[in-house]
Amino acid sequence: MNVKPSAATPKTVPDDQLLDQALRPRTFGEYIGQEKVKANLKVMIGAAKKRNEPIEHLLLHGPSGLGKTTLSYLIAKELGTNIRVTSGTALEKAGDVGSILTGLADGDVLFIDEVHRLNKNVEEVIYPAMENFNLDIIIGKGNAAKTLQIDLPRFTLVAATTKISLLSAPFRSRFGVSFRLDFYTQEEIEQIVLRSAALLGVTVEPAAVATIARSSRFTPRVANRLLKRVRDFAQMKGTGSITADMAQKGLKMLEIDEKGLEETDRKILLTIAEKFNGGPVGLKTIAAAISEEEATIEDVYEPYLMQLGLLARTPKGRVVTPFGYKHLDLTPPNNTLF
Ligand code: ADE
Repeated sequence: MNVKPSAATPKTVPDDQLLDQALRPRTFGEYIGQEKVKANLKVMIGAAKKRNEPIEHLLLHGPSGLGKTTLSYLIAKELGTNIRVTSGTALEKAGDVGSILTGLADGDVLFIDEVHRLNKNVEEVIYPAMENFNLDIIIGKGNAAKTLQIDLPRFTLVAATTKISLLSAPFRSRFGVSFRLDFYTQEEIEQIVLRSAALLGVTVEPAAVATIARSSRFTPRVANRLLKRVRDFAQMKGTGSITADMAQKGLKMLEIDEKGLEETDRKILLTIAEKFNGGPVGLKTIAAAISEEEATIEDVYEPYLMQLGLLARTPKGRVVTPFGYKHLDLTPPNNTLF
């Protein structure tokens, strides 16, 4: 597989990102979890290869950090094709996507992350490209403008989004298939932590693996990040090997609790409970109250708080659930919606 750099590929990457790449599974066999998605993909890829055709355009959705990018690399690898990686924010103009599309070869995978952020001009180029493998180029302006149609290679668009609801119905209908990635199980995250520890060459006690996994928000990216931080802690405060004690103390120092909640999660819950009588309260108000961006609260914090059942979304706004109150060690008010 050949990975071409694109607008979305930074020239320098921080150490942690390089390490993330080193921990990334290289084959479907190494990829732990998301069993149904993997099984479906294997069938699609196998059948397309037998027919000597590219696979249909594919939409991957679900919370961030669950492996959508990793899966797209594995799809290209399994197909034996090149992958071109970019994102909805990097593609600003119709010309940006035009030059990428014309540079693809037959069967190549084009991966667009955060596809809900594509602007209208770019979407309009992508529609005919997805449907008919055509690129319409407008030359000139006003009355003298002419449309030139270029044939494109038969590529596969793999698009990823954390917000499928923001995609228009016509755009969504152009994908042959759509898969939702779900949070991993405790056991799957434990396997991922063990695999990553082996790749990093660090020993880790089974109880420490379980502790790290419990605090990982059931998200591989978080699990790997915590493993690396706890490894640093063990190196500085212990012998270097990750014991249960080192894992617990390391996570405590990071202010991550046994459910994986960090300071901002607690701030969100506490603010709704204490300043807004448990809710319902709008996202804008919460964001202003804790000085955090709305998108970050919505994309990063809320999905996990809802998954745990500590927070709920109602038509009138966010509310802390009785379970959320229990986690905060607070008594719910009488007027709670539950
Ligand atoms: N690292 C990150 N995600 C992974 C996964 N799903 N399986 C194995 N290693 C991973």
